[in-house]
Amino acid sequence: MADWLPPLRNHVHGIWSRWDPRSGIQEAIDGLAVTGKMIHIKNKTEIQKMRDAGRLAAEVLHETGQRVAAGVSTLELNNFAHKFTLSRGARSAPLNYRGFPRSICTSINNVVCHGIPDKNDVLKPGDILNIDITVILNGFHGDTSRMFVIEPIPEQARRLIQDTEKSMFVGIETIQPDGRISDIGAAIDDFLSPRGYGIVRDLTGHGIGRNFHEDPSVPHYRQSMITERMRPGMTFTVEPMVNTGTFEVYTSQEDGWTVFTKDGSLSAQFEHTCLVTDHGYEILTVME
Ligand code: MF3
Ligand code: CO
Ligand code: CO
Repeated sequence: MADWLPPLRNHVHGIWSRWDPRSGIQEAIDGLAVTGKMIHIKNKTEIQKMRDAGRLAAEVLHETGQRVAAGVSTLELNNFAHKFTLSRGARSAPLNYRGFPRSICTSINNVVCHGIPDKNDVLKPGDILNIDITVILNGFHGDTSRMFVIEPIPEQARRLIQDTEKSMFVGIETIQPDGRISDIGAAIDDFLSPRGYGIVRDLTGHGIGRNFHEDPSVPHYRQSMITERMRPGMTFTVEPMVNTGTFEVYTSQEDGWTVFTKDGSLSAQFEHTCLVTDHGYEILTVME
């Protein structure tokens, strides 16, 4: 079984198309041309390894979350997660990934994602925190994140968190063979936009497997480009980043990583690693 779909590069008379070896169909792509994509289709063995990595990532997230409390620094959370991951025979994917200096991401309040754990970032009442865990187990990645809160928090923050989690599931529920990757963002957008949120556009979900980030990219907003179809054996993340204010963000010039909301508004994120199955989807980043 061919396990890589070839890229979109058959540019014929202005029509973009691609040969899909699974369906044997030459698909016309009538949206904007996108760069060549190679989406890995995982086989049975690889899927089992993805399940194992996903389960461990969920467990590390759960255990690390148990340590969240006022007075705890994000570096303490990082160090716990790092050791726990090693004790399970796995590695923390973020550490040294493109120069990232720590083992997990911790993103507080107006930080959208990629917050760097620090001994001076001490949690206090009113904070909302995303912990993002990615582990590598037997060569495969599991990537998951969720929000934690230090009570008491404002009602607006609670609503943001609830709506962000709900939007992730609304997106995940669209996953099915022959569906479009763009169905996910369309559903998330339809849920969130009427509620007045800003959906971050600069960062997306992503394919995942032997690599931390693979094709396809998974936007969390509606976009007219007709994107690739979902096929059984694809694994990718759904990880909406949602702001109470504008969708616009910027990256810290100082550390090159931390992503902030442009207007200082609050941001929340949830993330699961998902598998396209023969009849729908399976969420891989769950504990048993
Ligand atoms: N875990 C993040 C994601 O969901 C990526 C973090 S990259 C890092 O894609 F280098 F900041 F760790
Ligand atoms: Co991810
Ligand atoms: Co992640």
